[in-house]
Amino acid sequence: MSTNNIQSYLIYFLTCPTLVIIVPTFEKMLTLSIKLVYLYFKTLELIQKMDINKIQAPTIILNKKVVIENIRAMVEKAKKHNLIFRPHFKTHQSAEIGNWIKNTGANKITVSSVGMANYFAENGWDDITIAFPLNIRELKKIEKLAKQVHLNILIGSLETIRYLHKKVNQKIGFFIKIDTGYHRSGIPASDIESIQQILNQAKPNKNLQFKGFLSHFGHSYYADNKRDVLIIFEDGKKQLVILKNHFIKEYPDLIISVGDTPSCTLADNFSGIDEIRPGNFVFFDLMQYNIGVCKASEIAMVVACPVVDKSPKRGELLIYGGAVHFSKEYIFDKHGNKVFGKAVRLTENGWSETENNIYVSGLSQEHGIIKATGSFIESLKIGDLLGVLPVHSCLTANLLKEYYEIGGGCIKMWGGKLKPFS
Ligand SMILES: Cc1ncc(COP(=O)(O)O)c(C=O)c1O
Repeated sequence: MSTNNIQSYLIYFLTCPTLVIIVPTFEKMLTLSIKLVYLYFKTLELIQKMDINKIQAPTIILNKKVVIENIRAMVEKAKKHNLIFRPHFKTHQSAEIGNWIKNTGANKITVSSVGMANYFAENGWDDITIAFPLNIRELKKIEKLAKQVHLNILIGSLETIRYLHKKVNQKIGFFIKIDTGYHRSGIPASDIESIQQILNQAKPNKNLQFKGFLSHFGHSYYADNKRDVLIIFEDGKKQLVILKNHFIKEYPDLIISVGDTPSCTLADNFSGIDEIRPGNFVFFDLMQYNIGVCKASEIAMVVACPVVDKSPKRGELLIYGGAVHFSKEYIFDKHGNKVFGKAVRLTENGWSETENNIYVSGLSQEHGIIKATGSFIESLKIGDLLGVLPVHSCLTANLLKEYYEIGGGCIKMWGGKLKPFS
């Protein structure tokens, strides 16, 4: 062996163990430094999140205590009446709020789109109903998801099932959508013949598993009071029970699924119903309050909006907060005013009570006009934040895409940007 070779071997045997020690130590230190930098920025973000005064643009402020209480009340209701609880997650669209519901023991959910179903499946939910008439253009995505979770879809017509029965290669549950009076979609409950045809068409394909009849009494939102909501509920229930009795022999496991927040909140006789799917109850809003479904104190969200102009002569304030933040939904209050939201003062622990003559009287794309008393207008400066209780919290949440929790941080939402202060 030459001296050169001996030297190379020596270098090799000496450097190898040194590298074995140094390289992982270096890697560990690098990972630790990256973690520390990440934590530093996270802490900064958290500190920033907690300061409401940093809000620059319309931002939802959520009262978590109220949300938790609303959830608790609906979970109790489902338990009391022995109902399957499958809340609609289109209202909050948030994995974190979903977890608050999961903590009560719920393990089934409803969503309104395939994208939303995928989002919640990625966040641990494995029993999902897409309660929207099947969009056959998304069938491939639906089948892919059905491989991972228990998935139910909604069939509202013979044409859809004709298409589907030849194409579906994946086990999937389906509900037949029944129209009991809302007239948005579905087969009229009295049209037994069409329902039978759908079932006959589906039968040869063993992947298509019939789960039952699903209805949404959305016309309960046209009711003026509790009594009218209950009339709509009782009528819908009666139609569905007749249907159930007709098909139960052939399909002994079929269930009846209903679910609008007004009916589920107010009704106290669910006999014949097996499953409820309310969604809005987590937040409630002015629409529910106006019908008599909830108390003002049960509304869990307000939108903080900057005051941008004042017109004391017209008795108006202008806020940054328009149709792109609230939608253009409105209600009529008991004085006959067209109301797009109710203005309230923001406080350290939430917001003040509503006042009769202070409300959002008009919305354009980004502008919101607040009708207010002279003293109210005078008490606010341009740049102050005003709270607005939304008419429809589902649409408001969907438009704003993030929540700011009182005394807490930001709550992520599907597709949200999580940047309330920039
Ligand atoms: C099919 C279906 N189920 C359940 C719900 C939940 O109803 P709510 O928003 O009144 O809670 C909706 C809402 O639109 C719906 O469309």
